[in-house]
Amino acid sequence: MLNRPKLKEAKSWKSLLSLANEKSYLDIQSLFDKDSKRGLDFSLDMNDLYFDFSRQAITREIFKNLLDLASEVNLEGSLSDMNTGSNINFTEDRPALHTVLRNPNSQAFFLNDKDISIDIKRDFRRIKLISLDLYNGRLLGYTGKPITDIINIGIGGSDLGVRMGLDALAAYKKEGLNFHFISNLDGVELNSVISKVDPSSSIFIVCSKSFSTIETLNNANAIKEWFISNMNKDAVKDHFFGVSQNVSAMDIFGIAKEKQFKIFEWIGGRYSITSSASLAFILAIGWDNFRDFLDGAYAMDRHFFEASFNKNIPVLLALIGIWNRNFLNISTHAVLPYDTYLKELPKFLQQLEMESNGKSTRKDNSSVDYSTSPVVWGDLASNGQHSFFQLLHQGTDQVSLDFILPVQSKVSRQDQHDLVISNCLAQSTAFCMDNSSVISNNDFNKFKKSVRPNSLILYNSITPSVLGCLVALYEHKVFTQGAIWEINSFDQWGVVLGKKLAEEFQSMINTENNDSGYSCIDHLLREIHLRKLNIRD
Ligand code: F6P
Repeated sequence: MLNRPKLKEAKSWKSLLSLANEKSYLDIQSLFDKDSKRGLDFSLDMNDLYFDFSRQAITREIFKNLLDLASEVNLEGSLSDMNTGSNINFTEDRPALHTVLRNPNSQAFFLNDKDISIDIKRDFRRIKLISLDLYNGRLLGYTGKPITDIINIGIGGSDLGVRMGLDALAAYKKEGLNFHFISNLDGVELNSVISKVDPSSSIFIVCSKSFSTIETLNNANAIKEWFISNMNKDAVKDHFFGVSQNVSAMDIFGIAKEKQFKIFEWIGGRYSITSSASLAFILAIGWDNFRDFLDGAYAMDRHFFEASFNKNIPVLLALIGIWNRNFLNISTHAVLPYDTYLKELPKFLQQLEMESNGKSTRKDNSSVDYSTSPVVWGDLASNGQHSFFQLLHQGTDQVSLDFILPVQSKVSRQDQHDLVISNCLAQSTAFCMDNSSVISNNDFNKFKKSVRPNSLILYNSITPSVLGCLVALYEHKVFTQGAIWEINSFDQWGVVLGKKLAEEFQSMINTENNDSGYSCIDHLLREIHLRKLNIRD
């Protein structure tokens, strides 16, 4: 990739800094009053999505400088590096090729002279055949019973995407199948599952790219023990599936070859929702709907790689995020769906955004001298209006907001759903407008607030294609921000230390040893040992 200036040395960065001091962007109402074309010029239509960023605290001059920043840091080069399979995951020396998963069947992709699309297509074809056997009652357990329950055992990217997808497309789920998730280590989910499923009509998907994640391995071994005690060892090969990069570990666990699927090394966990890691998701909605989901993501991929940056939704979402984070110094970002089907989306995006861009070391190993990922959080917006919106309106900290709104409902009359729309537009307006016109003067000082920049992403209603578009939109936004911040959006070294300490501490917790060598926890070890022995008075 061509050389680029350090971010804060970029000419456009310096212009943006001086523009940020002008504050003219803060009165969004007047930006609309002075510019009748603002709404339309700051909105983009792409397939099923409509992206409206006109209520962001940006002027046309700021908008132009953000685009100048993108070209000054050679964002085009970063997109090309991703699209051509360069090792953009520069600490693990590998490419990031989740986009290849969505390519249509016909499209080859050569990595080191090997067409990797062949392996992708093979695994997807195998999953499609398994799904058909499942629906036709031909996928039988060891005792000959048809399968009714599918349990996904995984965590992080091996759990959040599948859960979110299954929730979002619940309207497309095959009748008669039950899906369960085990991710946490404390046994509550595991015990809940084994209390309600019949092992003879259940399949267990051990989903783990590394096949070494302590939570997943403990849960998988525990459920395999329970399974064997209720069935027998020979039945494991009929009921356990594996999705991993680690084939030998799947073999050792006892997963039959025909029930093993690959997560390729160039797929990051948090970018794996369009891969075989979504086996449970595919079984839930069927291959045709999953292909529509992939096609929606593919459409957004093409838009991302081909649209000019001033009309490029992921790039603009990223640049607006950079403006809010690095120039308005807003430290948290909320994703607020007015769509109950997307209640798991904020959690999914937390990993995608914060595990990707919660970094502070640049590619040249220097420390960043600017902020990177904000804290990303969120919840269903209707609930939020009755829990945390007060802080959003009048708290001492600013929060940037993404509203996500379906215009039609799958389940209620349109006049009922119009209430959802009016609430979303009312909140979006209230967050960035002067309230004096609707609030009597004597109350106005109760309504003092500063601008809460917000974007609105709307669509007719959630479909596999819309969900694919949304997922790819945020994946590319995250990549774009990482590229501009010069950080690696595809590794996660920060979580390694905790994992290593957990292994070291395990032996201390299991014994009476109160002297860990870590002075910050010795008092805790004593307390825990006493409580474990129930001798704490
Ligand atoms: O949190 C660290 C992490 O490696 C994530 O990146 C990943 O999604 C999760 O743990 C699970 O990893 P695996 O799929 O290898 O079990």
